[in-house]
Amino acid sequence: MFFVAGATGFIGTHLIRSLAAARLAARCLVRNPRKIPRCTDAGMEVSLGDITDRESLRGKLDGCTVAVHLVGIIEEQGEMTFEKVHVRGTENLVEEAKRSGVRHFFYQSALGASPGAKARYAKTKAEAEEIVRASGIPFTIFRPSLVVGEGDGFTGRLKELIALGPFVPVPGSGEARLQPIYVGDWVKCFLSLFPDPSRSADAPSRLFELGGPEHLTYNEIVNQLMEAMGVNKPVIHLPLGAVKISLPFARITRTLGEVFGKKIPPVTREQLELLQTDNICARDSVERNFGFTPLTYREALPLFIQRTGKGRGSPKSGH
Ligand SMILES: NC(=O)c1ccc[n+]([C@@H]2O[C@H](COP(=O)([O-])OP(=O)(O)OC[C@H]3O[C@@H](n4cnc5c(N)ncnc54)[C@H](OP(=O)(O)O)[C@@H]3O)[C@@H](O)[C@H]2O)c1
Repeated sequence: MFFVAGATGFIGTHLIRSLAAARLAARCLVRNPRKIPRCTDAGMEVSLGDITDRESLRGKLDGCTVAVHLVGIIEEQGEMTFEKVHVRGTENLVEEAKRSGVRHFFYQSALGASPGAKARYAKTKAEAEEIVRASGIPFTIFRPSLVVGEGDGFTGRLKELIALGPFVPVPGSGEARLQPIYVGDWVKCFLSLFPDPSRSADAPSRLFELGGPEHLTYNEIVNQLMEAMGVNKPVIHLPLGAVKISLPFARITRTLGEVFGKKIPPVTREQLELLQTDNICARDSVERNFGFTPLTYREALPLFIQRTGKGRGSPKSGH
């Protein structure tokens, strides 16, 4: 049986639905009881727990052969810092996996994870990878670029931003390149390695960088999304320094916006940092390692655009 931490998130929701379709069983770690139906509706078992609370994990992985760790945050909230969730949380999960005799540990890192990274998101992802590598449990690490699909937070926020005013604000030059991969293709890669938890548990340790078939600048992504939405608005580039200075006032602007019925999507210093750096790998990363050509962003958009974004009944707004 799989143990899935992060099953209630964007990628996790898609993963457990596909596991259910393949008649594979999983026990899902859920920290918010209101989200239990997301897992039980897919026919999965549920265990309540929080990866930052070691005691809450005790015994929860017993009987599972493959642990799938999808927990991550893109924004720190209160005491849930990158250090606490990515580093301490991974330590807790790995320790409990060892205690339970889990035979393979899957960790979802991110492209750009590096101990020297400026963004703490990427730095703490690298630290978490190191904990997984040092665990002694055979592991698989995925480092994807941007993952897109129904319920993805990135497309959801960008859609709101595009719909907001007469022009579309882009912080900085918008020339940093991303390599969007469709979530259905991410799941295909996962299932090709783990078609069955008991047989795949003895797979050797590996790390895969993962991205779609194209490198697209942020500007190109904005334009393709506008096209798919049937919207044509001018793009205005905002000087990065000014955006950073205005961040402390963003909450006020957001609240005011909501008063006037305008949804202003949140942006953090961390997200700004990430949007200024290339987040790409080899264009054939999926073809070479998994033997199929993933969808381009343009091909994937019609599959999920209507069902992504606030008020569209999205399963989850994630990264
Ligand atoms: N989406 C992307 O483009 C992308 C790209 C590269 C890497 N990644 C990585 O892929 C993973 C999944 O991403 P996603 O987009 O699916 O994220 P997401 O939608 O934000 O989901 C995150 C999941 O982690 C859970 N979680 C957060 N803190 C937790 C804690 N302390 N204890 C237990 N569960 C906790 C969330 O539970 P709740 O439902 O209760 O909040 C949710 O199930 C993350 O590690 C992310 O860094 C994502």
